[in-house]
Amino acid sequence: MGRLEGKIAIVTGASRGIGEGIARMFAAEGACVVLAARTADRLQTVAAEIEAAGGQAVPVRADVSATDDVRRMVEVAVERFGGVDVLVNNAAVTFFSKRIDDEEMEAEYDRLMATNVKGVWMGIHYAVPHMRRRGGGSIINISSVHGIASGGHMSAYAASKGALIAGTRALAVELAPHLIRVNCISPGRIWLDDDPSEWVRRRFGEDAHREYLARFRDWLERARGLQQPLPIAGLPVDIAYCAVYLASDEARFCTGANFVVDGGMTAELADPSFHHPGATELAQRQQEMRAWFAEVRRRADSSG
Ligand SMILES: NC(=O)c1ccc[n+]([C@@H]2O[C@H](COP(=O)([O-])OP(=O)(O)OC[C@H]3O[C@@H](n4cnc5c(N)ncnc54)[C@H](OP(=O)(O)O)[C@@H]3O)[C@@H](O)[C@H]2O)c1
Repeated sequence: MGRLEGKIAIVTGASRGIGEGIARMFAAEGACVVLAARTADRLQTVAAEIEAAGGQAVPVRADVSATDDVRRMVEVAVERFGGVDVLVNNAAVTFFSKRIDDEEMEAEYDRLMATNVKGVWMGIHYAVPHMRRRGGGSIINISSVHGIASGGHMSAYAASKGALIAGTRALAVELAPHLIRVNCISPGRIWLDDDPSEWVRRRFGEDAHREYLARFRDWLERARGLQQPLPIAGLPVDIAYCAVYLASDEARFCTGANFVVDGGMTAELADPSFHHPGATELAQRQQEMRAWFAEVRRRADSSG
């Protein structure tokens, strides 16, 4: 018997990356899963593969920044499976490149907050009555190490992830009388594909992908070992294992917590003297990478 047998779960951002990993593991552990994201075809593929493997999954096209879509996503779980036990708020805008004094930051800030913060709150708003009806539930908010410590150009993303950690604590207290548990997972760097350059291909296209391979792959490979104490790549399954625990009854006494799953990244003291001799060169290359990303994004934005 699976660890989530009989549970009904919604996973947002389930079409790829960490959300896909969580949805697949939930289904393998016996949960009926509603998979939500904006792009229908990829969602359908993931759902069909889960079903082919003997699981139960329904894809729902939903933009979590649109309140009507969020309400519909919850309704689908109720109509198809009979309720909601688990909500994983994973969908997010994962990239914010604007400086605080950038003339054009406001639109990007609004889009990010509407998805990363309001989308999460609205999902909880609509799911809670159904969890109460079923006598309890588990809400899992996917935050980030950026909610704890961060870097330049990431202020809105970091603020959105910090909001999830703070909101998780407050909602855990508010919802505890109903036996609804609310926890966070804060991933460190998670490699979404065996080849991380796929991330660049997906977001910026073929030309950018070729340029990436030429310029930055070596940097990323070396940085991988430098920026976190555990010398292994974090993968979506590392987050999914934690999510399965939090979704299951094994975590019945656990609420208001933030589970940092980061290979030790935030445990390390950022004292330059402790760093690898290659750190200075990597820092220089990182500056170059940021400048290149900004340029590629500018080109992608201006071409529509
Ligand atoms: N990967 C990492 O290293 C890392 C580290 C720390 C934290 N995280 C957090 O982990 C979560 C997943 O990250 P990821 O790297 O797996 O991201 P990803 O590969 O960019 O996938 C994001 C998922 O969310 C969906 N999505 C984005 N905007 C949406 C919206 N408005 N409405 C509905 N779905 C939306 C995407 O599908 P559509 O585009 O089709 O909608 C996709 O399924 C995020 O919360 C991220 O902040 C990731």
